[in-house]
Amino acid sequence: MPARTSCPDPRELTMSVHPAESSAPAARQAMSLPRLRDMAARGEKITMLTCYDATFARVLEDAGVEVLLVGDSLGNVIQGDTSTVPVALVDMEYHTRCVARGKRSAWLVADLPFGAYERSPEQAFDSAVKLMRAGAQMVKLEGGGVLVDTVRFLTERGIPVCAHLGLTPQRVHALGGFRVQGRDDAGAAVLRADAKAMAEAGAAMLVLELVPSSVGRQITEDNPGLLTIGIGAGASTSGQVLVLHDLLGITPGKRPRFVRDFTHVPGSEVGLGIRDAVRTYVDDVKALRFPDESIHGF
Ligand code: KIV
Repeated sequence: MPARTSCPDPRELTMSVHPAESSAPAARQAMSLPRLRDMAARGEKITMLTCYDATFARVLEDAGVEVLLVGDSLGNVIQGDTSTVPVALVDMEYHTRCVARGKRSAWLVADLPFGAYERSPEQAFDSAVKLMRAGAQMVKLEGGGVLVDTVRFLTERGIPVCAHLGLTPQRVHALGGFRVQGRDDAGAAVLRADAKAMAEAGAAMLVLELVPSSVGRQITEDNPGLLTIGIGAGASTSGQVLVLHDLLGITPGKRPRFVRDFTHVPGSEVGLGIRDAVRTYVDDVKALRFPDESIHGF
């Protein structure tokens, strides 16, 4: 299949049937790793959301989201598959390019998809270069110990890396389903060792998915220089991430425990619009109202 390279030009977005908003927020300073580290050091929570296109890149950024993740969750929410396994590198390049065109200041992370990095550090480097050329500022890869050398290889060559531990959806078949990881002492110890090894290999950021809140807290405390971003990992991480479609309450099927539908207003039949829902997510993460341990924690 030929690589898909075209996506909406943001200039067309502002010249569409609806005029550009006159109240667009003033240009923000570009987000960077030092700025994200400063936020973590002063205890300000970092907000990350998945994003797959130019229009949402603008909307999320204007609502205050600091980090956009072109997640391979696009396999589920955009392509309609039941897992992220079928997502190809050309799909990730295409959506990364779309988001890069729409965003102005947010930090842009793109997922290396299944099969694009596991074979060797050189394979990972070649795939990462494609995502960086499409506009990514950092690449994310799933897995622990076996990938430490790959993380070192990438970071030594100037490619910022976000690791991803806990529930790693690309390995869903090997893990036996979507279940909480690191529940027992041995499992928690492996996660802590993997996180430390990733940080020592140069990973600047770590997504922690579906782990007990105590493990999210321990890993964050163990690695002060590492930006930990939780999804179902409790409130102690440096920041939070959700899949955009989950936050908007439009993902079909049963909602996982760690997800909140931010369009929903308790006691009201009228829901929030997209911009207000995303702003509420940003506000609630920063004010430690989300995640709520009694509802979303493990
Ligand atoms: O692909 C994705 O959306 C992710 C998030 C769940 C963190 O990796």
